[in-house]
Amino acid sequence: MTTALLTMKKISKVFETEELETHALKDISFTINKGDYVSISGPSGCGKSTLLSIMGLLDVSTTGEYFIEGVNVTDLTLDQAAEVRNAKIGFIFQSFNLIDELSVFDNVALPLRYSSEKPNSKKIKQRVTQCLEQVGLSHRIAHKPNQLSGGQQQRVAIARALVAEPAILLVDEPTGNLDSKSGDLVMDVLEKLNESGTTICMVTHDPRYADMAKTKIQLLDGTILQAPLVKIAS
Ligand SMILES: Nc1ncnc2c1ncn2[C@@H]1O[C@H](COP(=O)(O)OP(=O)(O)OP(=O)(O)O)[C@@H](O)[C@H]1O
Ligand SMILES: [Mg+2]
Repeated sequence: MTTALLTMKKISKVFETEELETHALKDISFTINKGDYVSISGPSGCGKSTLLSIMGLLDVSTTGEYFIEGVNVTDLTLDQAAEVRNAKIGFIFQSFNLIDELSVFDNVALPLRYSSEKPNSKKIKQRVTQCLEQVGLSHRIAHKPNQLSGGQQQRVAIARALVAEPAILLVDEPTGNLDSKSGDLVMDVLEKLNESGTTICMVTHDPRYADMAKTKIQLLDGTILQAPLVKIAS
């Protein structure tokens, strides 16, 4: 049985400045099920990052409704949104956003130390070690981010995104700062994670990487262009 993890119904986003109104997203509707691997692609400025920000509760839509695991999360307060985000969403960005002063271990442990569950240090060590194994970086646990290659840093960022066992990984241009060999390695890690059950939604410019996803969403000027494989929400 497929379980709807995330559903968007007629989501629109308008950015207003004094001189300009930008309709970044127009009537976007789709569902992502548990275990899906979805790619979002389209030209610069078409609304990919805006969509991912709304999916990740980093921003709110102007109109429309958004559900995570059947719960309406459209109109949460900032605190409620942060709570759902910490519990359900793992983020991976183009710029790895690691903290240079902290070791790989402490970077990956960070979300657990800030989680409401506050696991003890033994549990934290277990989980961090497990996630670093999943991304093939157990041997770099005591290094600092600036002692690692770009591809390794991105894999640390993946481990950090995984550590609190999110329901979905939201990934924005994960290979944008990487050479093609490191990029391929990062994509291999994401593919393996999906094979072992992790739900992934990834923004990418690279058609090769977009094709690795099971479901492809093409955006153009804030609308879903043509998506025969996308399950449109009713
Ligand atoms: N905070 C903001 N204020 C005003 N306009 C914005 C804001 N954020 C995004 N936009 C506009 O919304 C549109 C969509 O932007 P978005 O960043 O989602 O594009 P994108 O598809 O991610 O592009 P890229 O591939 O270049 O990353 C663009 O026209 C952009 O200028
Ligand atoms: Mg973007």
